[in-house]
This record gives sequence, C-alpha cells and structure tokens, in this order.
Amino acid sequence: MTDQFSRKASAWSARFSEPVSELVKRYTASVQFDRRLALHDIEGSLAHAEMLHSVGVLDEHDLEMISNAMARIRSEIERGEFRWSIDLEDVHLNIEKRLTDLAGDSGKRLHTARSRNDQVATDIRLWLRGSIDEIRTLLRTLRIALLDMAELNAETIMPGFTHLQVAQPVTFGHHLHAYSEMFGRDDERLVDCRRRVNRLPLGAAALAGTSYPIDRERVARALGFEGLCENSLDAVSDRDFAIEFCAAASLIMMHVSRLGEELVLWMSPRVAFIDLPDRFCTGSSIMPQKKNPDVPELARGKTGRVYGALVALLTLMKGQPLAYNKDNQEDKEPLFDTVDTLTATLTIFADMVRGIEVRAERMRAAAAEGFSTATDLADYLVRKGLAFRDAHEAVARAVRHAAERGVDLPDLSLDELRVFSPLVDADVTAALTLEGSVSARDHIGGTAPAQVRAAIARSRAALDQ
Ligand code: ARG
Repeated sequence: MTDQFSRKASAWSARFSEPVSELVKRYTASVQFDRRLALHDIEGSLAHAEMLHSVGVLDEHDLEMISNAMARIRSEIERGEFRWSIDLEDVHLNIEKRLTDLAGDSGKRLHTARSRNDQVATDIRLWLRGSIDEIRTLLRTLRIALLDMAELNAETIMPGFTHLQVAQPVTFGHHLHAYSEMFGRDDERLVDCRRRVNRLPLGAAALAGTSYPIDRERVARALGFEGLCENSLDAVSDRDFAIEFCAAASLIMMHVSRLGEELVLWMSPRVAFIDLPDRFCTGSSIMPQKKNPDVPELARGKTGRVYGALVALLTLMKGQPLAYNKDNQEDKEPLFDTVDTLTATLTIFADMVRGIEVRAERMRAAAAEGFSTATDLADYLVRKGLAFRDAHEAVARAVRHAAERGVDLPDLSLDELRVFSPLVDADVTAALTLEGSVSARDHIGGTAPAQVRAAIARSRAALDQ
C-alpha cells in the first residue's frame, strides 16, 4: 500500500500526477506560523479519538496507540525536538504524519469523520479562548494599578481639559479612574466575545457533516466548549469570532493609546505633570539631555497594527462564498499578532502606571491658572439668585478683565468682582478655591475626593466578583 504521505508528503497525493512546485509549496504552507496551535491540535485530536472510540469507530487498541503517540509528540514539541516540515504544509499534517509514524494504522484512522476544515476552526477557538483568559488577567492587573494610583491621588488637584484648554479642576485620581472604567468595559466585551468563541466546530467535517455516528456533545464537553456550532457550513467557514475579538482588542488599544498620549503630554517638560521612571524611557543618540517616553509612544503606534488586523480579517471574510476557502488560512497571523501586541502592551502598562511619579505642585499650579473656577463663580451667583445665563455673562466679563490685567479670578479683590455683579460677597473666596471647586462636585461620577474614593471602592468590589 502506498504511504499516503509519500509523494509530496501530502494527505491528498493519489489524486495528483505531479508534485506542487517549490514556489507553490512555500506560498501555500502555513506551518511556519500555525505550529503555534500544536498543543491545541493535539488536545482536539484526543477528544475526537476518545469520542470515535465511544461510538465504536475506533477500537481500544487504536485509542491507546493514538493516546500514547500523541503524548510522545506533545513532549517532543514541548522540548523543541519535533521536526517541523514545510513539505507537510501545516500543523495538522505535520502532527498527523508523526502520529502515523509512531502509531501505524491506528494513527491513520484518527482522521475518520474529520477534516482539516473543522479541525483548524477548533484549534483556533481553543487557542483564542486561552488567550482571552490571559488578556483578561492582564487587564485586571492594569486596572488594579490604575485604581491604586487613583486612590493615592484622590485629592491631587490637576486641571481638567476640554479642547485641551483648561476647563475645570479635577483630581488626578478621578482622571485615572476614568481609564479604569474604560478597561472595565473592555473586559465586559471580552467576556461577551468569549461566549461565542467557546463553541465547537468539530463534527462539521469538511462542510456537510459526516456519515459516522459522531457524538458532538461529548467532544464539546471534553474540550470545555459551552455549545456547538450548529450548522456545519457555518462552523467551518466563518471567522466572525476572531473578528469580534480583534474589534474588542482594537478598543483596548484605543484606550491604551489615549492613556499613552496623555503620559507623553504630561511628561513633556512644558507640562511636567509627571515623570516616568528611567526604565520606561530612552535617551537620544545625539541630544544628551533627552529622556523620551518611548513606551507610551510605541503603544500609541502599535495601536495601528491592531486596527490593521481587524481590517485584514474583515476584508478576508467579506468575499468568501460558503463554506471553507483557503483564504481563511490568512486569519492566523493577524490574530496571533493582535494577541502578542496586546499581551506585551498591557503587561508593560500595568508596570508603568505604578511607576508614575506625580508632580502635584505642577498640576496644582496649572489648575490655578486659566480661570478654572469660572464655572464655580457662575454657580455661586446662581445660588445668590441670578439666572445661569446672566451669571455666565457676568463671569465672562470678569474673566476678560482679569485676563487683561494678567491675573486669575481669585486674585481679583472683592470690589473688583462686585463691578461685575453686586451679588458677590465675602463668601465668594470659598467658591473660587480649587479645593472648593472639586469638593462641590459631590455626586456619583463627580470629582469630589470622597466620591472618587467611593467610585474606586465600587470598582474594586466589581473586580473581586
Ligand atoms: N492550514 C489550513 C488553514 O489554516 C487548514 C485547513 C486546510 N483545509 C483545506 N481544505 N485546505 O486554514
């Protein structure tokens, strides 16, 4: 009997009269990158073999031969001793070839009631499920770092900006808590996405199902899937679960990038709200004075490649007729790259956030400039009976006057302020202070230190659930 792998060492050789050219072999092979799925491929194969045995397709001897050979293959891979061959195209055929070398005819029976189409879809889902769990752990670590820093800075006053113009004073703790909220929603998206990733395609075979009496639920249980992909055509063809993950990953990177942008801005000597430890920065090869925030800049830059992966996968899918097409082999590299980028970025950000050195006096000085308590003065006049629009107008005139004099609102005397509204009294000073401004915003979601602390406590409790 001809060895099924003997020609070009492929699984479909008897149909062909000449081997594929070297160029085509290189062009169509995926083993260079999909070998990353190897352990999941083995896990899926073992569950499949066990099920085939339970329905009487494989006998005891076959199952034992397959299990033993797979255990050996796994340890060869883990020890880096497995010999990967591009002639065997992909991870599935590489492992299957080694299996038949070790387990003979029993090995050749493994592919009964299965196709690489449902096999690869299963492998990716298993791999992505594990990756999602790891990314969730990293997100959690980053959120704890943000919450710890936020708590330390629940009273640290900084200017809040709109249009990058000083708007109203806020606390740095409030600002950091905002990012914890963003990453919290990102985590919810991952949880939601994971439910749809975690369904079993195996059993769909090439596209139409199989004529063997398979037990898909048994395989799903063995592999920890929450359900089945219920249509065989859909099971082997769609990669929407991977696209959804890349969309969630893009949102995470978008949030990381905004934080990165702020860190860069805050670290600029012109702003100097913070400093970052030297270990996150690099120098310049020509300018000896430079200390550059390379890590946040690079994260901002890497956001682009994650968006790129999302667009690549959306585009990959859009023109494909049902069911499986070779196009889908292109799903892996963008997906792997997304997970790698996210993993590295979240790990380093959690560490970096803890390292932020806050320059509270610089933040405070910036908040004290730029008329940041103008809204508080307007609110004060409203409390004294003026309509808000009139109060707004009176304060606008006072700000203009102060700007012309080159001073800020708290620097104006009572008499000067009274020119703009006779309602101004001695108690106005409290309204014009930075502390008065932040502590007045005393409701859920407001920047008052007590509210920031309460919000942090709620976030921590949610993390512990
Ligand atoms: N390497 C292939 C992939 O990644 C495996 C499935 C191949 N199936 C096929 N019919 N050629 O999609």
